Amino acid sequence: MGRRAWPGGTGLGRQREPAVTVEVHVRPGDAQRALRSEVLAGLCGESRPRELSPKWLYDERGSRLFDEITRLPEYYPTRREREILLAHAGDVARASGADTLVELGSGSSEKTRLLLDALRRTGRLSRFVPFDVSEAFLRRAAEAVAREYPGLHVHAVVGDFERHLGRLPRGGRRLVAFLGGTIGNLKPAGRARFYAELASGMEPGEGLLLGTDLLKSRERLFAAYNDGAGVTAAFNRNVLNVLNRELGADFEPEAFEHLAPFDEENGWVEMRLISTRPQAVRLPVLERYVNFAEGEVLRTEVSCKFHPEQVEAELSAAGLRLVELWTDAAGDFALSLALKR
Ligand code: SAH
Ligand code: AVI
Repeated sequence: MGRRAWPGGTGLGRQREPAVTVEVHVRPGDAQRALRSEVLAGLCGESRPRELSPKWLYDERGSRLFDEITRLPEYYPTRREREILLAHAGDVARASGADTLVELGSGSSEKTRLLLDALRRTGRLSRFVPFDVSEAFLRRAAEAVAREYPGLHVHAVVGDFERHLGRLPRGGRRLVAFLGGTIGNLKPAGRARFYAELASGMEPGEGLLLGTDLLKSRERLFAAYNDGAGVTAAFNRNVLNVLNRELGADFEPEAFEHLAPFDEENGWVEMRLISTRPQAVRLPVLERYVNFAEGEVLRTEVSCKFHPEQVEAELSAAGLRLVELWTDAAGDFALSLALKR
């Protein structure tokens, strides 16, 4: 049986490993400790609604469910952002002059290939840095990109973009992509911290390419986050499986209902798990019980929706000058290119 070379290999039949290096800043033990302290504060503490950070939604199953969400007919953001990238990836590549593409919250990096292709056409692309908190999913996505782009150095970073932006590899001319509208999963104060931290590590002239979902009718927002096939509900409830596995908890996911209404006042869609009956959940690792009343809410994510002017103002406050803001033809989603002053 013949041996297969990687695409772009030597052609001598010698199998080469794809060029991926992986730097890990969130080890399983760190993640466990962070989850325990968040659960103590957000779930067992006094604050209402009870709340968890959306990053816990993305274990392996959660990451796969999110990918399924991106293909749902009701979930427009991924398709709209792809439409913008198809039209403007070349403009982004030219305006950024980048040789390194960093991608925060990279997930499958599926749409990112449009950017990699455009950067490769400029002849300058040498490095891709996907950065995500979900290690196994990130490793597989990084290996797939390395196989498809022979000669590209893929330097994957397992990190939390609320804690480890200071660890991003430096050097070269970098473009940082933050796609999908994931910035909207941070509340205003968290966004301000994120932009300030990111900008403080950027060199003047380096770029940020930011995807943001735009405000639209509450009916369309409701449909996108409460899909008919129940994939978003499974994605939401899966966080309870994460708590069961990591903390030995005994949540019954089916005893919580998924609901994601639009909160007009805050301008965000809010993913909730609502207890369908009074119940006490055991958290043995923390030696605690959490009591849920019937109808009590656990908030698992906010997803902020923006006006273009708000995006520009928030970037500008962090010293990031908006150069272009493109939308899709329907005006559903925006992609902004900003440069560090
Ligand atoms: N960028 C992709 C994926 C978006 S899903 C797209 O546009 O389709 C959000 C991604 O962000 C997931 O891969 C998740 O694991 C990652 N993520 C969520 N919170 C994170 C955090 N605090 N730090 C790093 N990655 C995070
Ligand atoms: C990753 N993030 C931008 C998605 C969003 O739309 O806020 C996560 C998601 N939550 C429910 N559906 C999709």
